[in-house]
Amino acid sequence: MADTLVALELLEPGIYLLRIQREKALNALNSAVLDELSSALDALDGKADARVVIVTGQGSKAFVAGADIEAIHQIANDAAARQFAEKGQRLFQRFQESSIIYIGAINGYALGGGLELAMALDLRIAAETARLGQPEINLGIIPGFGGTQRLGRLVGPGRALWMIASGEPVRAPEAQAMGLVDAVTASNELMDECLRRARVLAQKAPLALAESKRMVARSRDWTIHEGLQAEAEAFSALAVSDDGREGTRAFLEKRQPVFRGQ
Ligand code: COA
Repeated sequence: MADTLVALELLEPGIYLLRIQREKALNALNSAVLDELSSALDALDGKADARVVIVTGQGSKAFVAGADIEAIHQIANDAAARQFAEKGQRLFQRFQESSIIYIGAINGYALGGGLELAMALDLRIAAETARLGQPEINLGIIPGFGGTQRLGRLVGPGRALWMIASGEPVRAPEAQAMGLVDAVTASNELMDECLRRARVLAQKAPLALAESKRMVARSRDWTIHEGLQAEAEAFSALAVSDDGREGTRAFLEKRQPVFRGQ
């Protein structure tokens, strides 16, 4: 797998690692990387055991330093540019629509398309040395892989506009303070913290885990009435599922539950 741009490996039962490995270009996203990411998501779709995937970048310097600037420069016309943007947007949307929980292990620069990728994941854990930003304005463009839409939803419109219109990156602690990342760790503890969280999640009842993600992810799109209705539907299905019965019975019998994903 050494010469592939994206590696997918099983770390432990239920937990996979997805690594972008184009270190010499700081893991910048060109079309080939996007295609390999898409294939990795296809592969994950076929793995019934996959519960949690940790996404990271190769090396200690960058998570992903953006869409590939040379590739953007070579785009021939606006139709091709639109295709490139929509390709990235569709790909990142797949992370959100999957029932798998994706944890971003932000090991360094998460800029442009790198921050857009991180924002499409479910949890973001950053090394204290990481820097996150949308510097596209400095290239005379704007984010095209979802950044203008996802950033404001996470940090509010004022901070989002500042980051996008100034291009100034933030360091990990500031990103945490504004809700852009969920935790900050020492660089050498990043993977341990991601794995710790992945293990917590991977042992939960699979259907309830998937519904937890779906409800929270979709809550941004729904009105409160739609969301409450969807929650009641999901709750009622889970309450009478085998795992729902098992979980409540195990509590009453003072033992650990055994979940089967049914
Ligand atoms: N696209 C293509 N190549 C990129 C890249 C990107 N987004 N980001 C970095 N690279 C390449 C550099 O061109 C360089 O290649 P080279 O060794 O062939 O010259 C290599 O990665 C290392 O980057 P370099 O700039 O030398 O490292 P640095 O430590 O001086 O700076 C950054 C690191 C992240 C601050 C700087 O690379 C940068 O600003 N990158 C672009 C960020 C950006 O604008 N992203 C949004 C793109 S839409």
